[in-house]
Amino acid sequence: MASQTSSLMLVLFVLLHMVLCTVESKPTTEIFRRLVGCRKGHTVQGVYELKQFVKKLGYLNYDGGKHGKDNEFDDDLEAAIKAYQVNYQLNITGILDDDTLKQMMKPRCGIADMIIHGDKNSKSFYRIGASQYEFFMGNPKWPLSKTHLTYNFRSSVDVYLAEDIRSVCFRAFERWANVSHFTFEEIPEDYIADIEIGFHSGDHGDGYPFDGPQGTLAHASPPTGGKLHYDADENWSTSPGPDDIDLESVTVHEIGHLLGLQHSLVPDAVMYAYFDSGITKRRLNRDDVHGIRALYD
Ligand SMILES: *[C@@H]1O[C@H](CO)[C@@H](O)[C@H](O)[C@H]1NC(C)=O
Ligand SMILES: *[C@@H]1O[C@H](CO)[C@@H](O)[C@H](O)[C@H]1NC(C)=O
Ligand SMILES: *[C@@H]1O[C@H](CO)[C@@H](O)[C@H](O)[C@H]1NC(C)=O
Ligand SMILES: [Zn+2]
Ligand SMILES: [Zn+2]
Repeated sequence: MASQTSSLMLVLFVLLHMVLCTVESKPTTEIFRRLVGCRKGHTVQGVYELKQFVKKLGYLNYDGGKHGKDNEFDDDLEAAIKAYQVNYQLNITGILDDDTLKQMMKPRCGIADMIIHGDKNSKSFYRIGASQYEFFMGNPKWPLSKTHLTYNFRSSVDVYLAEDIRSVCFRAFERWANVSHFTFEEIPEDYIADIEIGFHSGDHGDGYPFDGPQGTLAHASPPTGGKLHYDADENWSTSPGPDDIDLESVTVHEIGHLLGLQHSLVPDAVMYAYFDSGITKRRLNRDDVHGIRALYD
């Protein structure tokens, strides 16, 4: 009897564990793949997850309420998909088609594409980004007198690149120093720096949990937040093979955020949101340089 009870408990425990793991796992490509072709008016399992995902990208703001909590492909979601399609030069159908899904599933920076704004009478707020550099909402920037920024490293996860990160960041900061009035200096980890850089995994306490391999690669705060976080679950590399993410390229991008640049829709710009495995994009584009100069000149 006792052993029957304990094996029942074990079975229950295993089942509960499976359920919890299923709930915890991120909405994967698989969930969304079943939605290909989904359009306004459809109510399908998975649309709720799609709304959450599109919201995370910056294209939807349901502001609590009932909206966004169901599986209905509504007006707001259609408008959001269209805005996304405009930004990434896809066919503007408002339908979650194959090309749109493919684009959405690419690895990218975790910062939402645009700061959402709008009027209170509208259920969803979005705007279509300009086809060049952008600033954050309200143009936050470092005070003009603050030209020397210090940085140091503090990770909650050990990553084997720990030594390389110092030289990688040195070069990445140098690229921005070369085109702006900023200078950067690494200081020891027991000091308080203007910018804190580190590797983290999953939920790491800032309200923007990382999502495991692929998807979100890194994120950084606009001025003067001074936080640059890498998702420790990526294949980071300093000389990337086909399945690796180039640490220096992503660092140059995230420093752009630290200085006040938002995502650019110019595909060659360092500040473009998406970043593929196996490539390097370390050099600032003309659009990036124009952006930083426009913000601080
Ligand atoms: C847009 O639609 C046209 C015609 O339906 C198709 O030939 C083309 O490949 C589509 N382009 C993109 C970027 O999806
Ligand atoms: C920054 O500029 C200096 C001097 O022009 C140059 O030697 C250096 O290679 C540049 N660094 C980067 C990372 O572009
Ligand atoms: C990391 O690299 C391995 C092979 O080198 C590959 O199988 C895996 O999919 C990669 N992971 C990611 C997140 O790209
Ligand atoms: Zn970004
Ligand atoms: Zn973070």
